[in-house]
Amino acid sequence: MARPSVERYVGVYNASHRAFLRAIGFVDDDIGKPLAAVVVAWSEAGPCNFHTLGLVRYVKEGVKARGGNALAVPTIVVNDNIGMGTEGMRYSLVSRDLIADTAEAQVMGHAFDGFVGIGGCDKTEPGLMMAMARINRPAVYLYGGSAEPGFYGDKKLTIEDVYEAMGGLAKGLVTEQELVTIEKHAHPTYGTCAGLFTANTMASIAEALGIALLGSASPAATSARRAMYAYESGKALVNAIEQGIRPRDIFTYEALENAITVLNAMGGSTNAILHLLAIAYESGVKLTLEDFERVSKKTPYIASLRPAGEYVMTDLDQVGGVPLVMSKLLKAGLLNGDALTVTGRTLAEELNSYKLPDIRHEHIVKEPSNPIEPTGGIKILRVTLAPEGAVLKVAATGITRFEGSAKPFDGEEGVFEALEKGGIEPGDVVVIRYEGPRGGPGMPEMLRITAAIVGAGLGENVAMVTDGRFSGATRGMMVGHVSPEAAVGGPIAVVEEGDKILIDAETGKLELLIPEQELQQRLKDYKPKPPRYTTGLLAKYASLAASASEGAVAKPRL
Ligand code: FES
Repeated sequence: MARPSVERYVGVYNASHRAFLRAIGFVDDDIGKPLAAVVVAWSEAGPCNFHTLGLVRYVKEGVKARGGNALAVPTIVVNDNIGMGTEGMRYSLVSRDLIADTAEAQVMGHAFDGFVGIGGCDKTEPGLMMAMARINRPAVYLYGGSAEPGFYGDKKLTIEDVYEAMGGLAKGLVTEQELVTIEKHAHPTYGTCAGLFTANTMASIAEALGIALLGSASPAATSARRAMYAYESGKALVNAIEQGIRPRDIFTYEALENAITVLNAMGGSTNAILHLLAIAYESGVKLTLEDFERVSKKTPYIASLRPAGEYVMTDLDQVGGVPLVMSKLLKAGLLNGDALTVTGRTLAEELNSYKLPDIRHEHIVKEPSNPIEPTGGIKILRVTLAPEGAVLKVAATGITRFEGSAKPFDGEEGVFEALEKGGIEPGDVVVIRYEGPRGGPGMPEMLRITAAIVGAGLGENVAMVTDGRFSGATRGMMVGHVSPEAAVGGPIAVVEEGDKILIDAETGKLELLIPEQELQQRLKDYKPKPPRYTTGLLAKYASLAASASEGAVAKPRL
């Protein structure tokens, strides 16, 4: 079958289509060459994707060097941190599916043969990868890179420190002057958040999936190596077009398993669970929460990266980046080396020929035989409060069991205020509901609240349970993604003040400790709440969103 661009632009009856290419500078020799899109998530509205437009030129040069043509098309960015704790956060996860839709519309609408997707902030990455899987035309993912860390004395800073200082100020543990100083130094360059929060997690996962070039996740946004990776990604795309390597050849079950292994080994963000489920859905691969549980149990946690560990992404970069982690996992027999990558070579072939720096790295990345923790950082919890599953990130807590009294809030409003007024006490389980995929809508992240709990010195004796999400930067005993969500009548909707809740990572239980008969009666009496939005994007998403246990994908109703 001819390439899409040949069908659209070659031949006498395509003269009208060609006329528009000529209008933007195409000449006879250009017609019929591989035609690539550079789908760039670019925005000046925050640091994460502030610079990504500058990478487009290098991708285009790489495409051209391999005999193709490339045109840039934009997609959107919603900066998570700027929306955090506000109505703006409801647009975050929603933007993931919107990004996938806009990439699909432009690549299909203009008959591109494939595309390089340039992402940065959290949702741009899975959004672009979902589009790659959905369209299934050759594609390469390119990350824009993270910010360099800031410094406060000799302490490295990330945005997480600003949130925790805000929580500390509320409790009188941090002065206003200290907070201002931390604010001014926390994020000193453009690029995504510096720790292994969601953006860096998804960039690492893109390497593990084989859709991004090895080593491309860890260089800082300010690094000159970003231009090199952009150029090489352009070349790799034309190669993939010529060889007919498609995203669904890459996003196989084995590759998704590799991604889950890397996620656990690095102690990455739990948001990756939603996003990998969504990428699997778009790829037509059956992936479930059980897969995350199973892989987590056999994967050692080996990389000390914030928020669970000590270091930031640029530290990992200096010692070898994600390929260092993956090489260790491959040698330990924990990765499927036969998975195909976008270069046309297998993951094992790529890793075995990758030149790692000869440098001391044991302080950041341990051997799988001598890990930080013997199993991965992600636990799937179930039973009475979450029959379809919930997510606990053990790597960021160290605590594995918590029993306390429920303090329910219908929405995140009011929690910060309750915290400030001392209304949340040791032994409480803060339950934040009606913040799921449909209820939120869009599962807003609770970083402002979770960081405030930690910053107020309550991280070890207050837990949180929500049908929303927590951020990749979250620490503490936090259970998210509780499914089914409150908005569809899940058990979390009927929790009452003072109910006892048990969170047990060892047994995988999230239990509402009330008699079964009482729970059934409450569920029978449940009355749905009216939706928060009845028009616009949020209402559209809410009407289509699947459960968090299925990736919260906006699934078409057919
Ligand atoms: Fe964009 Fe953290 S807010 S990466």
